[in-house]
Amino acid sequence: MKEIIKSVHITLKEEGELNEVEQELVAAAKEATFRSYAPYSRFCVGAAALLDNGEIVTGNNQENCAYPSGLCAERTTLFYANSRYPDVPVRTLCIAARDTSGSFTKEPISPCGACRQVMLETEHRFGHPMQVMLFGTNGIYFIDSAQDLLPVGFDQDSLV
Ligand code: THU
Repeated sequence: MKEIIKSVHITLKEEGELNEVEQELVAAAKEATFRSYAPYSRFCVGAAALLDNGEIVTGNNQENCAYPSGLCAERTTLFYANSRYPDVPVRTLCIAARDTSGSFTKEPISPCGACRQVMLETEHRFGHPMQVMLFGTNGIYFIDSAQDLLPVGFDQDSLV
C-alpha cells in the first residue's frame, strides 16, 4: 500500500495587506454581489477575473425558479471572460459573497465542485495557473492555482 498526500498552500491576508490590484479585484467582486440575481437563496456571490490583458471582468450568481438552471458567480464570470476573450488567459479569479443578512461573509467563500472543475478547465486551456482569491471579512485566502482546489480533478488526459 502507498499513500499519496496532496496538500494545499494558502496565504491568508488581511484587507490592509492587499496591493493595489488585489484591492481593485476585491472591490470589483464585492460590487458584483450587488448585481446578483438571487431571489431564492438570497446568497449573493460576485466574482472578478483579472485577464492577462489587464482587463477585469465581473459576474455574479444568476438563479432560476427551476433551481438547477441557475448558475454560480464563478462560472458566469469565467464563461463570460472566455467567450469574450477566448485567447486571453485568466490570471486571477477573486470571489466574494454576502449572506442572507446582507453582510459579506466572515469566512472566505468556498467555490462549489462544478465551479472548481470549470476553474481547472480555464487553467488548462491556457496552460497558465490561475490564482484564486477567496474573500472573507476575517481575511482573504490566496491560492496559487485552481489545481489546488481540485487536487484529484478530472482533466483532458482522462478522456484519452
Ligand atoms: N453560489 C455561487 O455563486 N458561488 C459559490 O461559490 C457558492 C454558491 C451561489 C449558487 C446559488 O445561487 C447561491 O450561491 C446559494 O447556493
